Parts: sequence; structure tokens; C-alpha cells
Amino acid sequence: MGTKLIIDTDPGIDDAFALALAALSTDVDLLGVTTVFGNVSLEATTRNARRILELCGRPDVPVAAGAARPLVHPQAERAAHVHGEDGLSGLSDTLPEPTRALEPSDAVSLLVSLLEAAEEPVTIAPIGPLTNIALLLAAHPHVKPKIARIVIMGGGLGTGNTTPAAEFNIYSDPEAARRVLVDEDVPCVLVPLEITHRCAVSTAWLGELAASGPLGATLEKLTASYQKLYHDELGLDGIVLHDAVAVAEAIKPGLLRTEAYPIEVDCGHGPARGATVADRRPGRRAGTTVEVAVDTDLDGLREFLLTRLAGTR
Ligand code: RIB
Ligand code: CA
Repeated sequence: MGTKLIIDTDPGIDDAFALALAALSTDVDLLGVTTVFGNVSLEATTRNARRILELCGRPDVPVAAGAARPLVHPQAERAAHVHGEDGLSGLSDTLPEPTRALEPSDAVSLLVSLLEAAEEPVTIAPIGPLTNIALLLAAHPHVKPKIARIVIMGGGLGTGNTTPAAEFNIYSDPEAARRVLVDEDVPCVLVPLEITHRCAVSTAWLGELAASGPLGATLEKLTASYQKLYHDELGLDGIVLHDAVAVAEAIKPGLLRTEAYPIEVDCGHGPARGATVADRRPGRRAGTTVEVAVDTDLDGLREFLLTRLAGTR
């Protein structure tokens, strides 16, 4: 029954869309959701993830809380100015309270138990800092054969958003990102800012989603401040659903065209901390590579997102 998927997330407005995309897709077996600090605190991201799943009618999906802080150094900054103090534009409390209890185990324990029980390899889609995934791979290497691939929203090929060099998820825990993208040998897909920005959706697209029904209307209502930020800062008539682009690829392999590059992550403390450096030199040395998403059918992807989120697929 379709893609077996676990999402690791820090909701987050675009995380909310990504979670809804997976929760509403009938060709996805959403085995579980794990939460991590990031846009806002772990307490808030966990509360938001549970409420979003309830909103989507998916109390069957277990949620476990993970890392509250990065592996080594304190998180430099959160993103409440983007996602609101509660992580969902100040509207988290308007979402339904979860009817399923939070898992008693932590995120890494839930990941291990789901992977061990899986009868076929599982896709993991981290759409926040990579702390939980780094811990999983370091402490439980025996589960690697049960991971089909890790589809990560993060990084940039020359641009950043949190700093001129670094994208937020990587910048929040560069050491964790380096463990996953450089040190490990699990197949990874990296969905960086360059492609997610090109997949921006318009206010007209959001209007269609809002008109599709109560769930679409609720999701669209979460984006008011997000729309203002993208308009004021980038002059955009719409928003960038970074995480939903990555989860779309996790659900539909090949939706994004990728190119294989060795990746390095700057874990120094200079101006490039958190930068993801892809070695695209023609004569580069052989070594571990990451599939970096570089292109897609932009309108096709937007249509894929809308039909899934509108519940018409
Ligand atoms: O840079 C975009 C990423 O940072 C997204 O995952 C967004 O939710 C924030 O966490
Ligand atoms: Ca996120």
C-alpha cells in the first residue's frame, strides 16, 4: 500500500502543509511522526504536529517527541518571526485537540520500533533540524537497511535564508546535518532552497485550496502572516511551501529531478556556518554523494499539491 513514510518535523506552517499532504494521500502509509525543536520549541512543535494530524482526521498516526536542542551548540535562532510564537501564526489553539496521547517513548525509540517492524524499507522525510536523524543513525545503525531513503528539506547551493550562507534546518544543527549528509551511507535526497523557492504557490492557488472545503480553508487560514512576510521581504504574491515540496518527492519518487553531488556542511563558527557545499566540479574525486533536487515540472508539482490537499485525490 504505497509509500511507507515517517516524517520528522518542527511545525511550522509549511510543515503543516507537508503533514497534511502525507496524511491525506491514500497512497501513503504514514507510519509515524516525530518532532524536533526548530521553528519554535519542541513543546510547541509537538503540540502542533498532534493537532495537525487530528485536523486531518489521522489520530491513528503515532507522534513521539525528540530532541529539544541541537547535538553540540545551542540553536542560534528560532523562526517565530516567520511562523508565529506558537509555530502556526498564533492559530494553533484554534485547531482540534488531539484525541491520541503522545507516545510515551521518545522520537528515536519510535523510529527504531517502526523501522524494525516494517516489512519493507521505509522513507524518512526530515523537514526540520536533523538532530533526531543523526541520533538515530549513530545509536542504532542496525536499522539502516530498513531505510529506503531519507528525503530532507534543507540546505542551499549558494543561498541561505537564515544567514547569507545557511538554510534554517541545517543552520539549526550543522553538526547533525553533517553526520547525516556526509558521515552516513544511507541514500539521501536533499531538497534545497533553490528548488523550493521555484515551487512557490500563489495567492490564487491558496484561494483554490481555501475554497476546496473546511480543511483547505483551515490550512489557508494558517498562512496569513506567512503571506505577508513573503510579500514584504521578497515581493512574492504567494508563499513557499518548502517542506511540502520535500514530502511530495518522498511520496512520489522522481517528482523532482536530482543530480548526485558530494556534500560538505560547514560546522565552523564563521560566516558560512551551516552552509551546504555541493562539489559540482566535473573532475571531482569519487565519494559519497547526495541526490540534490535541481528541477521539476513546477506547475505539475503545484497541481499535485493542490489536488492532494484539496482531498480530490
Ligand atoms: O528553511 C526552510 C525550513 O526551515 C522549513 O523546514 C521551515 O519549516 C523551517 O523549518
Ligand atoms: Ca520545517
